[in-house]
Amino acid sequence: MNKFNLQPNNKEHLMRENDFIVSKTDLRGVITYGNPIFVEFSGYDESELLGVAQNVIRHPDMPRALFSLIWSTIRAGNECFGYVKNLSKDGSFYWVFMHITPEFSPEGIKIGYYSVRRCPKRSAIEKIEPIYQKMLAAEKATNIENAIDAGTQVLTDILNSTGRNYEDFIFSL
Ligand SMILES: Cc1cc2nc3c(=O)[nH]c(=O)nc-3n(C[C@H](O)[C@H](O)[C@H](O)COP(=O)(O)O)c2cc1C
Repeated sequence: MNKFNLQPNNKEHLMRENDFIVSKTDLRGVITYGNPIFVEFSGYDESELLGVAQNVIRHPDMPRALFSLIWSTIRAGNECFGYVKNLSKDGSFYWVFMHITPEFSPEGIKIGYYSVRRCPKRSAIEKIEPIYQKMLAAEKATNIENAIDAGTQVLTDILNSTGRNYEDFIFSL
């Protein structure tokens, strides 16, 4: 539950084909920039978004293990892709296809992260949503300390059964 204490509902907002939802964060994931479409989909005023953690739009249907994977990938200096269900201020949700890259200063020092989210393929969401549900169920079936491991195990088993790594799997959807 984020600091606005929202009640999620089943209303979905669809991204338009040519939308780009862009945000930037510092190294801890605190929002430093959001483009107008980020502001629109989030439902917040820009002033409510700047300076708060990016998890302000975290949806409770998303498994913790997915964010753990994203953070370990970008902390290591790599880009990361993923399908993410986000929560708007009015409790509605919107699905995105997210790409996060580390942002470097001209001196080559990592200074933050940059995220561009595009309209996801519906067919991909239909495939990833049940996987997230299984991951979340495994996370909830254990205690909080083991939740990420439990969710990760579900994802790892699915990836192993397809013979693909995470990124290849995401692009195969
Ligand atoms: C640049 C950037 C963009 C992010 N975009 C999203 C996003 O669109 N939705 C989301 O739920 N988390 C996003 N995250 C991940 C959040 O920082 C956070 O890890 C996630 O919401 C889960 O919250 P928690 O880590 O408090 O469990 C982003 C992180 C970064 C660095």
